[in-house]
Amino acid sequence: MALDWRTKKVGLIVGSLRENSFNRMIAAAIPELDDSIVYESISIADLPLYNEDIDHGDGPEPVQRFREAIKRVDGIIIVSPEYNSGIPGVLKNALDWASTPTKTAALRRKPVGLVGATPGVKGTILSQQQIRQTLEATQAFVLPFQKMYISQVMDKVDLERRLLTDEATRKYLKRYVQQFILWIDQVPSLD
Ligand SMILES: Cc1cc2nc3c(=O)[nH]c(=O)nc-3n(C[C@H](O)[C@H](O)[C@H](O)COP(=O)(O)O)c2cc1C
Repeated sequence: MALDWRTKKVGLIVGSLRENSFNRMIAAAIPELDDSIVYESISIADLPLYNEDIDHGDGPEPVQRFREAIKRVDGIIIVSPEYNSGIPGVLKNALDWASTPTKTAALRRKPVGLVGATPGVKGTILSQQQIRQTLEATQAFVLPFQKMYISQVMDKVDLERRLLTDEATRKYLKRYVQQFILWIDQVPSLD
């Protein structure tokens, strides 16, 4: 890939803190499937619990870093599990931090794609609905129409090598990412 100032940057946020997370494995496959742009992993692991009492100025240092990382990239792809039919608390916490201050919030007008993997059969449908609802409240732009649900993920990866191996899933994920990249240019800019 030839890099120049026009090369897009996409941030990858994983909604699980688990070291051997399937969703982290899926996120790691994305740069390998599409190397037309630059990817940056954006961690949510060191964010404090959201508290309005400490949300003033630029916010606590880990929050500043998190917000700046989101502002630096052209779009975000969130790769998240589903917990109890909904959004994992750690991810909701991170999205809340990226939603303030309202007028200059990191997520405001940010193109966002959603991917989710589960050992279960329903592919994180319910979690993605809630993530989408939260993102709409933050005025982020979530990729419409296309959805990327990965069910029975343990059958689609090589656990030892931590690789996404299922050919059909690789194909769909690659197509989803490429559509997301194309769509970034359709989103109206802030100014
Ligand atoms: C508290 C909790 C609740 C869960 N609820 C769901 C659920 O509602 N739907 C689902 O598909 N999987 C559920 N799971 C299973 C997760 O999909 C599974 O643990 C998955 O591996 C977590 O993602 P990760 O591997 O990226 O950490 C739940 C797991 C935990 C720990």
